[in-house]
Amino acid sequence: MKLERYLEGRRLDVEAAFDKLLPGKKVLPSTIHEAMRYSIFVGGKRLRPILCLAAAEACGGSRNKALPLACAVECIHTYSLIHDDLPCMDDDDMRRGQPTCHKVYGEAVGVLTGDALQALAFEIAAGSRGSRRYPVGALVRELAVAAGSQRLIAGQVLDLEGERKKLGKAQLVRIHKNKTAALIAASIRLGAMSADAGPKALERLTDFGEALGLAFQVIDDILDVTRTSQQLGKSAGKDLKAGKTTYPSVLGLEKSRAEAGRLTRKAHRALEGFGKDGARLREIAVYLLERDY
Ligand code: IPE
Ligand code: IPE
Ligand code: MG
Ligand code: MG
Ligand code: MG
Repeated sequence: MKLERYLEGRRLDVEAAFDKLLPGKKVLPSTIHEAMRYSIFVGGKRLRPILCLAAAEACGGSRNKALPLACAVECIHTYSLIHDDLPCMDDDDMRRGQPTCHKVYGEAVGVLTGDALQALAFEIAAGSRGSRRYPVGALVRELAVAAGSQRLIAGQVLDLEGERKKLGKAQLVRIHKNKTAALIAASIRLGAMSADAGPKALERLTDFGEALGLAFQVIDDILDVTRTSQQLGKSAGKDLKAGKTTYPSVLGLEKSRAEAGRLTRKAHRALEGFGKDGARLREIAVYLLERDY
């Protein structure tokens, strides 16, 4: 199957699952359920859930079994974007091509929508089925650690504390590994764990996910300076305005592109042991390197 069709099919699977997992928008208090549905369904590439499903398949597992974990990861991601856009953080008005959650529902409901999606992520993960090697508690823990104060939140804190400071490459890598690569690697690991992947396969997929996740944020930084808000569906050029340390600001555009290419090749090398079963993940890595939004 062509990659475009695969991505579209998996996106639809994830969205159909979400329609069942999210409380209906009339469930009281309706404001919060409306806001949760708004932020989830407004758009988004669904990259993390798709990687979760593709990793399960690469390990010989079923997509259906991985689907709740895929949705749990997307809940964490969407919550992190809602909070990332708040005035006290990156202060953004546009996300996924539409006004940000707090622009539509107000700041307080914006905070609470993020909170509710984070809680829902764990409710969904706790209701998923574990595998022989990985009981459901191990899956929930995997998600909690990736979303927690030493990974995603650590990255967000360092990103904010680094504004208007001159950081070096090592500090920049630390921010990006935590704020972005941790959840991307966990998405892939969770898919593999639901498929009862052996330790060697899980290790390879972890290396793949970490390299891919870092490449993903390098590209995000590049797109912020090379694309328009219309193309991105979020406000472009904002990293420079906020004085963020990014790949282009530290290395320049050309070297940043080279770095993204190098990281993608590193991700590919990690998949070598998978042979044909790794083909889809390999293809997704190229697609993410070449993406333009
Ligand atoms: C944006 O993530 C935030 C980053 C970690 C760079 P995505 O580019 O995956 O955003 P959506 O989900 O497609 O909106
Ligand atoms: C977002 O990084 C990372 C998380 C939300 C954890 P950015 O701040 O670069 O994401 P965008 O560019 O606003 O999507
Ligand atoms: Mg940010
Ligand atoms: Mg931001
Ligand atoms: Mg960005």
